[in-house]
Amino acid sequence: MLTGPTEPFKNVILLPQTNQLLALYTIIRDQNTKRTDFCFYSDRIIRLLVEEGLNHMPVEAKTITTPTGQTYDGVSFLGKICGVSIVRAGESMEQPLRDVCRSVRIGKILIQRNEETAEAELFYEKLPEDIHERNVFLLDPMVATGGSAIVATKVLLEKGVKQENIFFLNLVCCKEGIDLYHKEFPNIKIVTGAIDSGLDTKKYLNPGLGDFGDRYFCI
Ligand code: PRP
Ligand code: URA
Ligand code: MG
Repeated sequence: MLTGPTEPFKNVILLPQTNQLLALYTIIRDQNTKRTDFCFYSDRIIRLLVEEGLNHMPVEAKTITTPTGQTYDGVSFLGKICGVSIVRAGESMEQPLRDVCRSVRIGKILIQRNEETAEAELFYEKLPEDIHERNVFLLDPMVATGGSAIVATKVLLEKGVKQENIFFLNLVCCKEGIDLYHKEFPNIKIVTGAIDSGLDTKKYLNPGLGDFGDRYFCI
């Protein structure tokens, strides 16, 4: 069951809300789910997000010969990609990306929300030199106010990455976060699995799943 708005958002690609996907979200949203299961089922969702992101990569025509001697008119991927994780929670999405794209380059942007004000603060970035020539999968499982994603995206644009080459992969977001993000960057595609109904007084997603970083790495 969808927990938030159902109307389509421009440049938001919502994974098909199949029973399987909803069952995965039910596990990771459950406060009683232990860390090993939280990680395992989150990884499964992240894998689906990565596969969907790859559906938007450019291809070129390629003809091959099959073992039966027949030709097959197919396609092959064109261009280069890289991942950029918003540390810490975004690092959870690196391995599922590597599982699909072997030896993919990964950059990091360390951003933390101030626990009092929920304002995003940038501490550090290290990105591939040629990032401006790449399609970039920006990785962060949570979009609440949208502040962290906006700060991270500004770093990418300053490095010369084009908006149309950024694909933001995300597990849970909400209308407030999407609207703020797309007010700044209308052409960036957000690939998500869940759009929640809003934020609580502490700016946590509602119903959400709590603090993703703590649940994946710590508790
Ligand atoms: C979380 C999350 C996002 C951000 C979302 O990170 O991973 O980066 O909050 O909130 P926003 O949309 O209101 O900016 P957090 O700062 O808690 O750091 P963590 O990854 O170390 O948990
Ligand atoms: N960060 C999280 O981990 N969860 C939220 O609900 C909001 C920000
Ligand atoms: Mg956190």
